Amino acid sequence: MRHLIEPTDLSVQETNEIVALAEDIIAHRDRYADRCRGKKLATLFYEPSTRTRLSFTSAMMELGGNVIGFSDARNSSVSKGETVQDTVRVINCFADIIAMRHWVEGAPLAATQVSRTPVINAGDGSHSHPTQTLTDLLTIKRELGRLDNLTIGFCGDLKFGRTVHSLIKAMSRYDNIRIVLIAPPELRLPSYIKSEVCDRCGMDYREVDDMESVMPELDVLYMTRVQKERFVDEEEFERVKDCFVLDARKMSMAKSDMAVLHPLPRVNEILQEVDDDPRAAYFRQVENGKFVRMALMLRLLEWAEKDSLVERPAAEQSTGHTCSNPRCITNTEPVEPLFHASQTEPDVYRCVYCEAIAK
Ligand code: NCD
Repeated sequence: MRHLIEPTDLSVQETNEIVALAEDIIAHRDRYADRCRGKKLATLFYEPSTRTRLSFTSAMMELGGNVIGFSDARNSSVSKGETVQDTVRVINCFADIIAMRHWVEGAPLAATQVSRTPVINAGDGSHSHPTQTLTDLLTIKRELGRLDNLTIGFCGDLKFGRTVHSLIKAMSRYDNIRIVLIAPPELRLPSYIKSEVCDRCGMDYREVDDMESVMPELDVLYMTRVQKERFVDEEEFERVKDCFVLDARKMSMAKSDMAVLHPLPRVNEILQEVDDDPRAAYFRQVENGKFVRMALMLRLLEWAEKDSLVERPAAEQSTGHTCSNPRCITNTEPVEPLFHASQTEPDVYRCVYCEAIAK
C-alpha cells in the first residue's frame, strides 16, 4: 500500500506528475467530477485546522466522493484512550483513504503499519506536512513556471515550522536551488535538516538574520507563523513572536516577479498592505491546495487498486534505544521504536517516526 507520510515518499517524477495532474484538473474541472464516485475519505484531525481539513473535504467532494471524520479529538474515542492504530483499524471498515493530522510526531507513520487503505499525513507535530509541500510546489510552478533554478527565502519559525521542513526536503531534489534561511537564533532550522538534507544533497544554503539584505535576490519568499503552540517557554515565544514582518517597504526591494508564499494562518508576519501586491500568492496558494489534494487522492486510490508497492530503505530495529523526543509516537503509544543509522553523523541513530536522535 502506498501512503504519503514524507514528501520523499513520492519520487521526483511522481511529484511532478501529481503537480501536472493538478494543473489538468484546473483546466478541465468537469472531467474529474465523478472520478471518486462511491469513495469515502476519512479526515482524522487531532489538532486544529481550517485550510487543510476543508481543502481535503472539498477536494473529495469535487471528485464526487464523500467525507467522514472528526475535527476535534475530544469528539472521538481518543478521549477514551484509544490508540491511533486502533482508531485506524476501525476507520478502515468505513473509508477508502485517510487524511490524518496529529500533534504527536510520527502518528501518521504508525497508522500506516496497520492500515489497509492509503494514509496521508496532513501534518504531524513540528515534523512534516507533505500535502502543504505539494500545494507549495504547484504554487511555485504556476507563479514562476518552474521548479528549478530558484533562490528561495524561508522566513520566520524554521525550527517548529513543519511546512518549511517538508518543502526543503522536496526542493533539495530539484536542480540549482539555493535557500536563504531568515530566522532569529532561537528559531533556526533543525540541524538534522541542514546535515541530512541540505549537505547531503549539496543544496546551497545560508543563514541570515535580516530580511532587507536578501530581498533583492529572492525568487520565492516563504513566510511562516511563529508556532506558538509548540513553545515550552512562553517568554521565549513573546521574545521572538514578531521577529520578521513583511511590509510594502520590504516588497519594494524585491524582484518584480518574486512570489510571496505563506501556508497560512498568518498572524502579524505579513501586513495587510501586502495583500494587494500581485506578487502576494498566499490566497491563490490555498486554492492550489485543493487541486493538488484532488490529484494526490486520485493517484493514491489508483495505486491502492493496483496494489502498487514502493521500495523503502530497511529500518534498523535498535533494541535498547529509545527516541529522545517526548512528542514522538514511540513515547506516547505502544508503537515499536525503529531507527535508521544517520547518513552524515557517525554512530548516530535517528528515529524513523520523527527523525530525532536515539538515546
Ligand atoms: C500550517 C500547518 O498547519 O502547519 N498551516 C497549514 O496547514 N496550512 C502552518 C501553520 O499552522 O502555521
